[in-house]
Amino acid sequence: MYSGKLITFEGLDGCGKSTQLEKTKDWLNNQGYTVLKTREPGGTVIGQQIRSILLNLEHEELQAESELLLYLADRIQHLQESILPAKSAGKIVLCDRFHDSTVAYQGYGRGLNLSSIESIVSHCIKPYAPDLTILLTISPETIASRLDRRQKQAEKDRLDLESHSFFARVAQGFQELAAAEPERFVCLNGEQEIEVIQNEIIDALQQRLQIC
Ligand code: TMP
Repeated sequence: MYSGKLITFEGLDGCGKSTQLEKTKDWLNNQGYTVLKTREPGGTVIGQQIRSILLNLEHEELQAESELLLYLADRIQHLQESILPAKSAGKIVLCDRFHDSTVAYQGYGRGLNLSSIESIVSHCIKPYAPDLTILLTISPETIASRLDRRQKQAEKDRLDLESHSFFARVAQGFQELAAAEPERFVCLNGEQEIEVIQNEIIDALQQRLQIC
């Protein structure tokens, strides 16, 4: 039914995934593929409104469960409105974050028990799991210095205000997700030179998805 592919990019804030996603899009376009570059939250018009609620610094009162449901609402809308039609049309969809981010941030980071949303996930999200997930990892020291830098910048968002221990739990979550599904995940050291990481991503696309 879906002749295209969904490739997701995951990792902590500041791990370099957006740069790699853009370069991957350019490489795929040069190879002749049609690509949809998108992101979560905010890959649709409705999703952009959800994103502005989620990341607004003034929304200190946002409850963890409300946050979780908003990320899921964004994802369901995004899948139905954008990702699945693009896959049906044979496109390669490159998505900046997907459901692994919810498990890592809301599950491991916030400590929410995600079994309460299992029926939504198993009906609306699990059937459309990514074909490949690129996880960019960075060390705790790098996380700390990048976060300190972001937290000093005027354009920081609500999640950037979280503690270092929150991000350490999120990083642990990503590691455990990747270990549980090695056939879907490719884990790359995000502290290498941009071109080195890009070459490793291209290798993974060629070897795992026979994209060349
Ligand atoms: P971005 O900065 O990578 O666009 O992501 C926005 C923030 O939202 C980032 O701090 C990670 C967070 N996030 C979650 O907490 N749960 C999710 O399900 C997703 C997709 C993102």
